Parts: sequence; C-alpha cells; structure tokens
Amino acid sequence: MNNDIKKVIVSESELKAICKKLGEQISKDYQDKCPILIGLLKGCEPFFSDLIKNISIYCKLDFMKVSSYFGTTESSGTVNIKSDIQFDVKDQDVIIVDDIIDTGRTSSLIKNLFEQRGAKSVELCCLLDKHEARLVDVDVKYVGGYIPNEFVVGYGLDYNELYRNLPYIGVLKEEIYR
Ligand code: IMP
Ligand code: MG
Repeated sequence: MNNDIKKVIVSESELKAICKKLGEQISKDYQDKCPILIGLLKGCEPFFSDLIKNISIYCKLDFMKVSSYFGTTESSGTVNIKSDIQFDVKDQDVIIVDDIIDTGRTSSLIKNLFEQRGAKSVELCCLLDKHEARLVDVDVKYVGGYIPNEFVVGYGLDYNELYRNLPYIGVLKEEIYR
C-alpha cells in the first residue's frame, strides 16, 4: 500500500500537531459551552478521534453519513442523508468535522441543514482545505492546513474506499488511476 504513494504531503507528526492546535483552539473558543461535534463519515475518521483527544472542555459527539447531489448550477444541490445524527441540534452549538474541503459544496449544504434545524451556531472544522478548488463560498472557522489542488489519500481519505488507514496523507502515483 505504501508503495502506491508518490509523495507524503502531511506527515504523521504534522497531523498530530494539527489536531493539538485545533483541539486547543476549540477548547478556548467554546470554554463555557458544550458543543456537539458532528463527524461526517467515513472520511472524518481518524481525524475526529485524534481531534477530540485534544479537546479539554465538555462536548458531545455525533456522526452523520451523507452524499450530495448537484443540479445544473454549481452552487445548488441537496444532501442525501444516509445516516442521521442522534441529537436534536435546536439551540445547540454545532461543529461539523470533515476531512477535506474541495469545491465547498458539501460543507455548505450541511452547514445550511443544521442552521435550518435551529442550531444556535454552526462552524466547520476541516483537516485540509484545497482552497484553489473552491466553487462555493463557505466560511471554515477551523482549518488544519491548506494543500494544492491534488488528489490525496490517507488518514481517512480514500481512493475507491482504499488507503483510509494510512497514518499520513499522500499523493497517489498516477499509474494507480490508470
Ligand atoms: P466538496 O467540498 O463538496 O467538493 O467535497 C469534499 C469531499 O470530497 C470530501 O469530504 C471528500 O470526501 C472528497 N474529496 C475531495 N478531495 C479529495 C481528495 O483529494 N481525496 C479524497 N477525497 C476527496
Ligand atoms: Mg467526505
């Protein structure tokens, strides 16, 4: 599996530092609150697990499995909820935890969904941001790091459901796509 990787772009130690930084930031920002962290499966794992270990305040955890469909206009679409969260988010502080923001379409739709459900606040926490690929303007409060517009795998991110278990993030060799 490791031989399929062309180059490592976020190492294990960098991932550890990112989780520490974001966890501390969230702990500070939500000091007297009890946010609900909602992980978007499956890509949020293992980022979600490492992040929460660095959060030192009260918080609740939940998960959601979604896929999104887009019509002819790039900025509109609907979220298909394959598995919903357990909690009622009404009047709650929500933090959506995702692996990567690419076009921004999915995150934007999910943010709207929780706002419609009456959440007091909704913020996004994303491990990586491919800023150049953004098509929809979405405010991401917590970003682990910015990467170039390349397809990456590992640490939750997959190609055909594989490579999620790599402990680092890397770029796949071209021959794997062929
Ligand atoms: P978008 O921001 O709506 O375009 O979609 C983001 C989703 O696309 C992420 O949650 C990933 O599941 C997937 N994705 C985008 N870029 C990559 C990548 O480089 N590797 C693996 N999955 C990706
Ligand atoms: Mg995803």
